[in-house]
Amino acid sequence: MLNNDIERVLITEKQLREKVEQLGKKISSDYKNSDNFLMVGVLKGAVVFMSDLIRCVNLPLQIDFMAVSSYGTSTESSGVVRILKDLDESVEGKDVLIIEDIIDSGLTLSYMYNILKSRKPASIKICALLDKPSRRKVELDVDYLGFEIPDYFVVGYGLDYAGKYRNLCDVCVLKPEIYQD
Ligand code: PRP
Ligand code: MN
Ligand code: MG
Repeated sequence: MLNNDIERVLITEKQLREKVEQLGKKISSDYKNSDNFLMVGVLKGAVVFMSDLIRCVNLPLQIDFMAVSSYGTSTESSGVVRILKDLDESVEGKDVLIIEDIIDSGLTLSYMYNILKSRKPASIKICALLDKPSRRKVELDVDYLGFEIPDYFVVGYGLDYAGKYRNLCDVCVLKPEIYQD
């Protein structure tokens, strides 16, 4: 059972839904004059958040995905960010909103932001569901944020440990014995 590995729920499915609706409303209002709005999801963690968020944005938009990785299977960032899959299309002239599940050291997003910015988008902003500010290693401006959380190792709603737990509906704290062997 997946749930046996969970210590407790940190953010419930209902709290997530309400926050995603709020973010969707704000984004819909901020981008209402854009005629080239592109949301870029960071694979794989952002897929659950992004699939809910796009359905709360009441505007024409396109989606694309980039896969970068900084973790491997450990709970600590390696500090090395690799592009595993690039975008399918150019971002030039588009209003780009990067969608991420969680900001930890900030290395993944700062790398993504700099790379996409160098490709001449009309604008570029960041939307993240979760932020662990205590772990930040690089400075980062986040335009849309769901929740600030303490330094717990969390899984669910897209977030994994060793590739698992992404399909949990709540954001949960993993039992330490699962990752402390
Ligand atoms: C996780 C998470 C963020 C990143 C945050 O991704 O989804 O993308 O780490 O950490 P950082 O701020 O220290 O860079 P991960 O590399 O585990 O890949 P995944 O999304 O495929 O799980
Ligand atoms: Mn990720
Ligand atoms: Mg991960």
